[in-house]
Amino acid sequence: MANERPIGFIDSGVGGLTVVKEAMRQLPNEEILYLGDTARCPYGPRPAEQVIEFTWQMTRFLLKKNIKLLVIACNTATAVALEEIKQTIDIPVIGVIQPGSRAALKASETGRVGVIGTLGTVKSGSYENELRKKAPETYVSSLACPKFVPIVESNQFNSSVAKKIVSHTLAPLKREKLDTLIMGCTHYPLLRPIIQNVMGQEVILIDSGAETINDVSTLLDYFNLNNYQHAATKSRIFYTTGSPKMFKDIASEWLNIRDLAVTHIDLGGE
Ligand code: DGL
Repeated sequence: MANERPIGFIDSGVGGLTVVKEAMRQLPNEEILYLGDTARCPYGPRPAEQVIEFTWQMTRFLLKKNIKLLVIACNTATAVALEEIKQTIDIPVIGVIQPGSRAALKASETGRVGVIGTLGTVKSGSYENELRKKAPETYVSSLACPKFVPIVESNQFNSSVAKKIVSHTLAPLKREKLDTLIMGCTHYPLLRPIIQNVMGQEVILIDSGAETINDVSTLLDYFNLNNYQHAATKSRIFYTTGSPKMFKDIASEWLNIRDLAVTHIDLGGE
């Protein structure tokens, strides 16, 4: 049955799990196929052409598994590859930047919005473009935080080192009097308590990935693609190009799944 096909999620590593977590909460009937390109993470500092190539490799891998919808659960990949992939493949494709921008505009009262993301995302200017296209008066201050992803991938996101790095990196944004801050990298919600603490409780944090699931839900309705089968256990399959153990440690804790199967695959890259 077409509707029982899984939803595919791709990211450079474990970041997209923050999007999957929200999918499991809002859409518990859906089967999930996830691919994290951990062996080549981070994507943030890589040239756009390379990120596009890697994103296509991940996309082709999941298309062969017969997914019904693709979520590019990575801001860096969304910034450079979403439009091309959307126009080329014949299933719905969603990125994380438009939903995040929309949520920020909805949340902000002062129109002073911050964006934190990888070097690639910040360099692309995608969030500024989205925000200003819709609300030209928005003040946007963007900051690349290249040290955050390695902290998360090495499972140190609760450590005192993480606190120090986050606090030091975000210092320039604290002077900007922002009322809303977009976590424009799907890895960052794992650092959320620290980011919130550093920015102050009054700043509204936007989790772009989680916002994306609202759009996924809308698209499933629109295309009549919802899976209404109430099976006792839903299949959630995880692939990584890196170490399954490392991936599993983070994923089982974050998603609260004990028997999580993680399979290593090769995408034929580096
Ligand atoms: N999680 C990704 C993002 O949302 C990419 C992190 C990286 O590989 O640099 O941008």
